[in-house]
Amino acid sequence: MTMSSLVRPALRAQALSPNVFAAFSALALKHGSVNLGQGFPTFPAPDFLKDAVCEAIHANNNQYGRPGGHPELVGVIGTQYSEQLARKIDGMTNVCTYSGAQEGIAAAAMAFVNPGDEVVVIEPYFDAYVNAVKLAGGKVIGVPLRTPEGATVTNSSDYTLDPAELDRAITPNTKMLILNTPHNPTGKVFSKSELVEVSDVVARHPDLIVLSDEVYEHSVYDDTEHIAFATINDMWKRTISLYSVGKTFSVTGFRLGYSIAPEELSRELLKIRAALSFSSVTPIEIGTAKAIAACRSNNYYQDFRTMMQAKRDVLVAAMTQAGIPPVVPQGGYFTVGDTSGPLVGAVPRLSEDDTAEQALLERRDFRVARWLTTEANITGIPMSCFYEPHNRYLANDVIRFCHAKDDDTMLAARSNFQKFAKQLS
Ligand SMILES: Cc1ncc(COP(=O)(O)O)c(C=O)c1O
Repeated sequence: MTMSSLVRPALRAQALSPNVFAAFSALALKHGSVNLGQGFPTFPAPDFLKDAVCEAIHANNNQYGRPGGHPELVGVIGTQYSEQLARKIDGMTNVCTYSGAQEGIAAAAMAFVNPGDEVVVIEPYFDAYVNAVKLAGGKVIGVPLRTPEGATVTNSSDYTLDPAELDRAITPNTKMLILNTPHNPTGKVFSKSELVEVSDVVARHPDLIVLSDEVYEHSVYDDTEHIAFATINDMWKRTISLYSVGKTFSVTGFRLGYSIAPEELSRELLKIRAALSFSSVTPIEIGTAKAIAACRSNNYYQDFRTMMQAKRDVLVAAMTQAGIPPVVPQGGYFTVGDTSGPLVGAVPRLSEDDTAEQALLERRDFRVARWLTTEANITGIPMSCFYEPHNRYLANDVIRFCHAKDDDTMLAARSNFQKFAKQLS
């Protein structure tokens, strides 16, 4: 008997999708490639946050916390979002903190999705949605963002959601819709009129709950405005809005996120949260409370937005020069690019009808991403893995690059893109 035959993982563990980021990070490391793969910042977090966390540790705030979040933290979140969501947010009953927004996604699925329930997700998607739904025993139904037929996609606003297609995807078995704005990976920021269209669809399905993932709310560029879905019509009563301290303050390793929802939804989230990791890290919650309070007067959010926009601009210019036309993102951490042009036309194409799960690693975007890592020393993530298998053909040529990187990394990426363009011209 081999060792492996003794191990019988639960079906839910077997159902989870492999993590593509680990594979590309390992390849990037091996080839000394500039890693624009995974969405985490490599620049330092603001001092006012780091100092506040250190102070909280030294003041001996180092024990278990309140599962819904430290009272000081949920208090300042309540104050900030009472303004942002234009309604009274009570920290103790409407807010719940998590070990990262990702745990919030899992908590939402665990709290509201029964085995066999369907969850509609917009493709391409943040891959953790799929695993969270599978863990809860639910079924993912993907509805892809569409781009204008035959036209070149130049801006993330060119990706649109067809409300009729969304409506058709929702059945009596649908329990939850997961929205994401600003969107990972395309950078799309849903406009008010688009959110109203979505809310009209949602309103036709009285039992539907919406998880609105808004973790990139402070990374919006140019004159784009982030609008919370919970502020649209009467969507508040069925919406769980989700945010990430990691993304907002460039501290993804703090693993701190939070949801804001009506009390009857929040109560259920809190039960699951307490049953998972019980509470977040107490000194981090206290330090974050001080930092969020400081943001009322220190202009951090505006400065962060300006900094992120400058990084986006460096990447957009470098990709353009290198012959990988970028889809200029309105928000978020990522810029996606079309690699079907002459520059990377050298990468062999695969047969287009090959959509089997096993063939995922051989899709063209995967080959291009590997090839860019080994030949150009720039690592991005192939976008087809953010779709359900039957829709992966929609991203055959698209690679996602993260622009939330320190200046040296961004300049190294630009230089590698330039070298590569010269080499092939
Ligand atoms: C859209 C989206 N939601 C949620 C998360 C998870 O955030 P956190 O690091 O707070 O768990 C990510 C991380 O990449 C993301 O891209």
